[in-house]
Amino acid sequence: MSVVKINVIEVPEGRAELLEQRFAARAGEVETVDGFESFDLLRPTEGTDKYLVVTKWRDDASFQAWMNSDAFQRGHAQSQGSAPSGGEQGGGHPGGEPGGGHPGASGPAATGSQLWGFEVVTSATGQRP
Ligand code: HEM
Repeated sequence: MSVVKINVIEVPEGRAELLEQRFAARAGEVETVDGFESFDLLRPTEGTDKYLVVTKWRDDASFQAWMNSDAFQRGHAQSQGSAPSGGEQGGGHPGGEPGGGHPGASGPAATGSQLWGFEVVTSATGQRP
């Protein structure tokens, strides 16, 4: 049965567009990863101000392998190579990188993240045109 891993991202006001652009630019990178099934970047509209990255994997081993891969580390270099393994973690320090000084242009858009994990129990999908 598939597993769902959700990265809950804190994004300060004014950085959301940057975050969305960065995801859009990299969306294709994960598509060929073994065991990857889908991901959605969800923009909050009600009840929370956190962004969610909802990802679906064949099994936990596939997800763990991707998290430990060079591809993941490369794609998340802005989080200083560290990925959340559960619990609260700082996602980066906007504008705080060496030689920075232009917050808003570089550094991570996110200021924190948390990983949630689930097993899929029941699924249904609607018809797509
Ligand atoms: C559940 C799986 C995932 C985890 C645990 C995770 C981890 C993180 C973390 C900790 C951040 C914030 C730190 C940072 O800014 O670099 C982040 C941001 C980001 N992630 Fe992921 N991620 C996941 C899935 C994905 C997927 C599927 C993609 C698309 C290929 C992706 C692409 C990005 C991008 C583009 C950012 C924005 C960097 C920024 O400007 O803040 N992530 N991710």
